[in-house]
Amino acid sequence: MERRWFIQKISGSTLLLSLPPLLSNCSKDPTDPIDSSGSTDESTPYNLLTDRRINTLNQSEFELLTDTQEFQLHDYKLNGYSINGVYPSPTIKTSKGQQLKIDFKNRIGNRCIIHWHGLIVPPLMDGHPSLAVSSGEDYNYVFEINQRAGTYFYHSHTHGLTANQVYKGIAGFFIIEDQEEAALNLPKGNYELTLLLQDKRTTSNELIYTPTQMEARMDGYLGNQIFVNGVPNAKHKVEKTVYRLRLLNGSTARILNVSWSNQMDMTLIGTDGGLLETAQHLTHILLAPAERVDILVNFSKVNDSIVKLISAESDLIKTSSGGGMMGSNFTQGTPMDMILFEIQDKEGPNYSHPPQLSVINYPSLESAERIRTITLEMLMQTGHAINGRQYNPQQIEFEVPQGAVEIWKFTNTTVVAHPMHLHGVQFRVISRSNRGVQKWEEGLKDTVLVLPGETVEILVHFTAQPGLYLFHCHNLEHEDAGMMLNYAIV
Ligand code: C2O
Ligand code: CU
Ligand code: CU
Repeated sequence: MERRWFIQKISGSTLLLSLPPLLSNCSKDPTDPIDSSGSTDESTPYNLLTDRRINTLNQSEFELLTDTQEFQLHDYKLNGYSINGVYPSPTIKTSKGQQLKIDFKNRIGNRCIIHWHGLIVPPLMDGHPSLAVSSGEDYNYVFEINQRAGTYFYHSHTHGLTANQVYKGIAGFFIIEDQEEAALNLPKGNYELTLLLQDKRTTSNELIYTPTQMEARMDGYLGNQIFVNGVPNAKHKVEKTVYRLRLLNGSTARILNVSWSNQMDMTLIGTDGGLLETAQHLTHILLAPAERVDILVNFSKVNDSIVKLISAESDLIKTSSGGGMMGSNFTQGTPMDMILFEIQDKEGPNYSHPPQLSVINYPSLESAERIRTITLEMLMQTGHAINGRQYNPQQIEFEVPQGAVEIWKFTNTTVVAHPMHLHGVQFRVISRSNRGVQKWEEGLKDTVLVLPGETVEILVHFTAQPGLYLFHCHNLEHEDAGMMLNYAIV
């Protein structure tokens, strides 16, 4: 039988993306090493790198055509949105210094705009929600890549609909490469995997996005299962060698506690804004929505023939007030499997990383000109707010002089976690009350998790062009409900 994905024209513009049945006897193509079905013997071949579902866009000029589409993600139907006919969205790959021309074509039957999360681009290129275009219209992006290599993110930023549109498919990797990183000769090709981690609610065989007002006011819309690149119970066959895994938490609300099922160390080489200066060895990483990590794993060091990448139980992020309205699966901090690696008896190329990975140039703490205090709070009438305010397209919270170095100090007075994100910058985390700055926060960041009761300070260098930018909570239910403010670079 046909092993690959095939697209069937049903009627009009509705396309059904079909998958081979779960327990098929299809023969496997050795170049397609990712398996994704729940069965351990015979399973659907699946490889992010070679499967046509995720294509890589590496030209300097291309189109992003968004449309409505019905997907069948194994047992689950999703009435979602495709980009260039696929789900999840294609991976954009480019390099420092490149000029990009991207023609965004909105055909989803609703307003939409794309934001390049983590990229420092001019205000009109940043995907501010006020720039959203109606269905049938286009938005033309032209910008130059002026920043270091890293694992970035692009997604819909339509105010009030961001979570919905991300859940339904408008979210993908945006990878920047540069010479500093190339010199490290990191694992690539089949030895480099980009894994988009998203929780979904699989309580029925249709994946629906229906947050209640209470969910939106508490932990957000939580699923009970993690899909990896759109695949539930994901599996992948690997060789006994070093792999590079780029992880992106593309969930609307779920915070992942990333670790290995056998509790081995993770070798962290990069975060939101690219490579760390030196690798960190960690047993777990709290990865909030929109955060990314770049890790190395040596499968030849695993004693067993399988190992799972999991989200381990975490008391730190369990909501004390019992935010999960629907039972224990729908709360933060519950243990979940993400992807199972089957280690084959085959040696791959050897790799060991150098002690020094990169050099991060950033202004010193002493050069900070001012401190801005930002209080995250819950307003009884309206929900989560920042400094007592909620999103108003007309209002600008802070005016920051271009080139300024500032300390932004976030205090979370609420009972739930808020991953705070700034557009137009990469920052450094300089202090965190209670827990201290975590090892995975030592590089450049664009999103930082602020837990209940915590105060987190970040050092920010505002180098982007003057104009309107945003800062907001990246729990997308919170963001859509108004936990987002404008700031301007002047
Ligand atoms: Cu990833 Cu304003 O967002
Ligand atoms: Cu962003
Ligand atoms: Cu929030």
